[in-house]
Amino acid sequence: MLEKIHELRRQAKENGHPVLREQSFELLLKTIKEKRPKKILEVGTNVGLSSVSMLLTSKTSTLTGIEIDEDTKHQAEENYKAFGVSDRAKIFLGDASEIIPVLTGGYDFIFLDGPKGHYYEYLQNLLPLLNKGGILFADNVLFNGYVFSKEKTPKKHNTIKNSMEKFLTAITTDKTLKTTVFDIEDGVSITEKLI
Ligand SMILES: C[S@@+](CC[C@H](N)C(=O)[O-])C[C@H]1O[C@@H](n2cnc3c(N)ncnc32)[C@H](O)[C@@H]1O
Repeated sequence: MLEKIHELRRQAKENGHPVLREQSFELLLKTIKEKRPKKILEVGTNVGLSSVSMLLTSKTSTLTGIEIDEDTKHQAEENYKAFGVSDRAKIFLGDASEIIPVLTGGYDFIFLDGPKGHYYEYLQNLLPLLNKGGILFADNVLFNGYVFSKEKTPKKHNTIKNSMEKFLTAITTDKTLKTTVFDIEDGVSITEKLI
């Protein structure tokens, strides 16, 4: 099975899909293994590499994904079938900005891996969806090292940098949350909802 996952990763990368990098991927699966969440929400499923891997790591989990690109969503669903997890996973097609606010909650784990400039905007609607003790796992939070860096950020990246700084400030200063930021690859944050 591990071999098939590696093959899926190789194919996805070859086709230019922005799948989770190696160390961040390992950290995601380690966290899933520890927490064994019942209900997972994934913002940005892409072709399903991370969702398939989470569902194979935790065999009793179910997953709801959000993906904006129709063809990519279709590929993810084909991969769910190929890996035998389609009975535990579904994907909503559309813009996460519109879908997240209408979800009803009860998630034990949220993997935030969608558009980088929108994490802060999503946060206020994602936190109420998380159960107490639930985990918000976010990728790309240090965004090329620009986030909280004194180095000049290229103008075109300023919106994402500023939004990500607001996101990180919010999750590290809120007393109802416990957050660890990992300076690996593009940066990962793991936040536990305490109450
Ligand atoms: C980094 S990829 C996700 C990779 C995937 N989690 C993995 O590691 O296998 C981000 C995905 O978010 C999707 N996306 C971008 N903007 C979106 C939006 N506004 N709403 C929902 N999905 C979006 C992209 O089409 C892309 O497939």
